[in-house]
Amino acid sequence: MPTIYVTDRAGNERAVEAKPGYSVMETIRDAGFDDLLALCGGCCSCATCHVVVDDAQLSLLPAMSEDEDDLLDSSDHRTAGSRLSCQIDVSDALDGLKVTIAPED
Ligand code: FES
Repeated sequence: MPTIYVTDRAGNERAVEAKPGYSVMETIRDAGFDDLLALCGGCCSCATCHVVVDDAQLSLLPAMSEDEDDLLDSSDHRTAGSRLSCQIDVSDALDGLKVTIAPED
């Protein structure tokens, strides 16, 4: 199983085992990170699952849809590494991925 390294808003990093078939958002939420609200449940309509991906790992991720791009534009904290974690499916290729939960909007 791939391991994802998640940093919360307090700066604490934790390794999380991720299961293929689930999204990165579900992985983070199910690991008990309260910072990630994921209010819409993964429908790409809330942006409360916003994470920042390590720059060097962006190429590991699937391309961003127009909906995800538009929604991220509504965040005051968007950076080059911003993604919505509900739009990233876990796969073995993501082993070692590092994500930081974005500040609250
Ligand atoms: S959980 Fe709402 S956009 Fe990802």
